[in-house]
Amino acid sequence: CGIVGIVGQTPVAPLIVDALKRLEYRGYDSAGVATLDLGKLDRRRAEGKLVNLEKRLGEEPLGGTIGIGHTRWATHGVPNETNAHPHFAQDVAVVHNGIIENFAELRDELKADGVAFSSQTDTEVIAHLVASGLKNGDAPQAAAFAALKRLRGAFALAIMFRGDEDMIIGARNGPPLAVGHGEGEMYLGSDAIALAPFTNAITYLEDGDWVVVRRGGVEIFGMDGQPVERARQQSVGTSLLVDKGNHRHFMEKEIHEQPEVISHTLAHYLNFAEGTVADFDLPFDFGKIERLAISACGTAYLAGLIGKYWLERYARLPVDIDIASEFRYREMPLPKNSAALFISQSGETADTLASLRYCRGEGVPISAIVNVRESTIARESDGIFPTLAGPEIGVASTKAFTCQLSVLAALTLRAAKARGTISAEEEQSLVRQLSEAPRFASQALKLSSGIEKVARELSHVRHVLYLGRDTNYPLALEGALKLKEISYIHAEGYAAGELKHGPIALIDEQMPVIVIAPHDRIFEKTVSNMQEVAARGGRIILITDEKGAKNATLDTLETVVLPDVPEFVAPIIYALPVQMLAYHTAVIMGTDVDQPRNLAKSVTVE
Ligand code: G6P
Repeated sequence: CGIVGIVGQTPVAPLIVDALKRLEYRGYDSAGVATLDLGKLDRRRAEGKLVNLEKRLGEEPLGGTIGIGHTRWATHGVPNETNAHPHFAQDVAVVHNGIIENFAELRDELKADGVAFSSQTDTEVIAHLVASGLKNGDAPQAAAFAALKRLRGAFALAIMFRGDEDMIIGARNGPPLAVGHGEGEMYLGSDAIALAPFTNAITYLEDGDWVVVRRGGVEIFGMDGQPVERARQQSVGTSLLVDKGNHRHFMEKEIHEQPEVISHTLAHYLNFAEGTVADFDLPFDFGKIERLAISACGTAYLAGLIGKYWLERYARLPVDIDIASEFRYREMPLPKNSAALFISQSGETADTLASLRYCRGEGVPISAIVNVRESTIARESDGIFPTLAGPEIGVASTKAFTCQLSVLAALTLRAAKARGTISAEEEQSLVRQLSEAPRFASQALKLSSGIEKVARELSHVRHVLYLGRDTNYPLALEGALKLKEISYIHAEGYAAGELKHGPIALIDEQMPVIVIAPHDRIFEKTVSNMQEVAARGGRIILITDEKGAKNATLDTLETVVLPDVPEFVAPIIYALPVQMLAYHTAVIMGTDVDQPRNLAKSVTVE
């Protein structure tokens, strides 16, 4: 979810909606705004996207120069208007991002005191808890602090009180929250981008901080109630809302940006002219570590999985890779001579951040591949490797993924060099291969119309299987993930060799099987797996290169032919047809491509 608070000079409701638009990537199933206007506490809320809230506000405007707002990704309670934030309890209004883990216990306690609840959310508990403090005679600030001390879980919140039109209380314990400093105006927001139209002067709060924000400034406290100092920084966030240009969707635009952003990212880590990997800062020595633990979520995890194949093959560095939500509780021992790497577009994903903190506790050096350099994961790492993808708006990650791969490829070369597993000639040759990735990516984009034809086939089916071996296996997983998240067609990715151990039972004439198989070292093995599919009546869609198309020796329903590309760069290039296939299928099916149902771009709850 995304939250905003403004203590301003002019009517704030439209400003809050403007800020919420920049936070819609954090959730978009309902939204709301509350303001205080000359003693009156009032709110407008609406189910669905922000446009619905804007419409509500158009019909019934809200006055007031102080207010809080929220865009929601539902955790507790269905996304209807009743469960939308802000939540009220007498004179208290609350917006909240995160999960209150002990909400059931607190709710029962409040109910026993005669409090009636009007929603199914965990957030409403906070409002009632603060209100009960007020009822017992506490001042607003004391009531808020007392309530905060009772909350368990991860949260960022903003609280406003009828009776004080110059105060919003904010708190952070997990999900991000930033204070914006204006001229006689102050702001709270989930990130600096939300506040970018108002101010660039930002103070990022740390876990356990709570703040009292007034027009004249901010006071920051720790959970012991003592004041704490937090630096004020200049944010680099642009106040412009990124637009789609000539593209129908952000996802399409972001797919087409890939040649350029891959090129920028690679150029940051490689010296193309000399054919060497650059001497960028590393928080550990690749030559001295014996293991690397990678952890991430979603598409970023799949980038990490490809990184494992590369680092093990080219740098002979053993890599453990985990889904962050598993890693954080797995209690993996990290020997002293290991290092940890986290991959996250947003840099805010709760599970990835928790994994990072676990590794911090284990005392190993921490690095992260992030797209947002001011994010929490970036700030808590010993060293970061930025992707130069630019803002990614579509919920389904595309350009962030190929930029993550670009960074991982460069890290692989750095590791291989430090560990003495490649010669100077090999380094030069691999750098040269990578330098051609943007050109190959442009060629791949030209296959769009052929891929659209395949997408038409997919739009009629209920289930799809993706197969691949080696680095094409993570791509098969990514293909399936993309297709299910934006077209809602059920899809599974499998290691091609694992097919015979179960999923082959699913094969019949109804089941398209998409095989990602460039003509690499194990192409013949994948062809054998395709034969097994064909023998059972399965319909094969083959994504391959020119050599592969010539040597496949079997009938396919469709074949998508990419240029022949060197094996090392193939994962970066093959990501594109896989993304385009999901994109076109979703467009044909008429789904909400950029904001698919039930999802959010940045997930700050576990
Ligand atoms: C969400 C997004 C995915 C993304 C994942 C990890 O689920 O919808 O596209 O891959 O989070 O996000 P991160 O920001 O950590 O890369």
